[in-house]
Amino acid sequence: MQISSEIEIQIQKLDEKFKEIDQKTTTHLEGLLWSKPITYWDYIQTDALLNLQTQRTTLPDEMIFIMYHQVNELLFKMILWEINQVCHCEKLETQFFTERLMRISRYFDMLTTSFDIMGDGMEVEQYMKFRNTLTPASGFQSAQYRLIEFASTDLINLIDHRFRVTIDRKTPYDHAFEHLYWQAAGKDHKTGKKSYLILEFERKYKAEFLRHMEEYNTINIWQKFKQLPKADQVNPDLIAAMRHFDKTVNITWVMGHLNAAKKYIDSGKGNGEATGGSDWKKYMHPKYQRRIFFPELWTKDELATWGE
Ligand code: HEM
Repeated sequence: MQISSEIEIQIQKLDEKFKEIDQKTTTHLEGLLWSKPITYWDYIQTDALLNLQTQRTTLPDEMIFIMYHQVNELLFKMILWEINQVCHCEKLETQFFTERLMRISRYFDMLTTSFDIMGDGMEVEQYMKFRNTLTPASGFQSAQYRLIEFASTDLINLIDHRFRVTIDRKTPYDHAFEHLYWQAAGKDHKTGKKSYLILEFERKYKAEFLRHMEEYNTINIWQKFKQLPKADQVNPDLIAAMRHFDKTVNITWVMGHLNAAKKYIDSGKGNGEATGGSDWKKYMHPKYQRRIFFPELWTKDELATWGE
C-alpha cells in the first residue's frame, strides 16, 4: 500500500507525541483498529442525561421545575468553566478578559430571560402542591451559585453589611464564612439558630467552600482586573463588560428570580412563606441585599440607587 506524505506527516506527529510520554506508537495505532466509531448519543450521553429527571409527586408540572433547575445548573457549570479560565490565566490580555466576561454575562442573560418559563410555565395550583413535598429544599442550596460568587469578587463584598467593619483580609476564612450575606437567610431572625436548610447545606459543602474562598482570594475576577496594567484598567470595553457582568448577576438575574418567586409564593394560594423559610421578599431584593461585585466601578449615585 502506498502511504501518502500527508499520512506520513500525521504518523510522525503521533510518534513525537507518544515518545514524549514514553508510550509505544504502534500499540496506540493498533488500539485504533478496535475503537468504536463515535455517535451523537454516546458522545453527548443523552441517555444518561435524560434519565436524571425523577419526580417526587404525581403533578406533571413538577417535571418542568426539575428540568428547569437542571438547565440552570448546567449553565452555572458553563459560567464556572469560563471564570476558571480567566482566573487561572497567568498572562491575561484585555481582549480575552473582555470576551470571556461577555460570554459569562450572556449565560446569565439567558438565565434571566428564561425565568419567564418559571413564571408562566407552571400552574400555580400545581406548584403550591408539589412545593410542600419538596420542603425544605431550596435553590438557596445551589453550591455552584455560591462558587460563582466566591470566584467573582473579594470576600468582603459578600459579607453581610452589618459585619463588614469587623472583617478584613486577615480574618480567618471560617469566621468570614459565618458572616456571609446569605447566612441571614438561613437563621431564625429571633433566636439566631441555624435552619435545617443551611445546616445540611454546610454539612455537604462547607469544606469545599472554604477551599474555594482561599483559592480565589487572590485570583477572583476583581483581583485579576486590579492586577492588570493601569492602562488596561481604564479600557472602556473591559469596564463595560465588568459592569455588565455585575449588573446582570446582581440586579437583572435577581429581579427575574424574585418576580418568578412572587408569582407563586405571593399568589394568595398558600401561606406566603418560602420553602427555605427566609424573610424572602426582603432577602431577595437587590436594593436590600446590595450584593455588588465591583463597587469601585460604579458612581456614588449608581451605588445609592442599586436595584431600584
Ligand atoms: C418557582 C421558582 C422559584 C421560586 C418560587 C424560588 C424561590 C426562592 C426563595 C423564596 C428563595 C429564598 C431562600 C428560601 O427561603 O428558600 C430562593 C433562593 C434562591 N433560589 Fe430560588 N426560586 C425559584 C427558582 C429558582 C431557580 C430556577 C434557581 C436556579 C438554580 C434558583 C436559585 C436560587 C438561589 C441561588 C437562591 C439563593 C439566592 C441568594 O442567596 O441570594 N431559584 N428562591
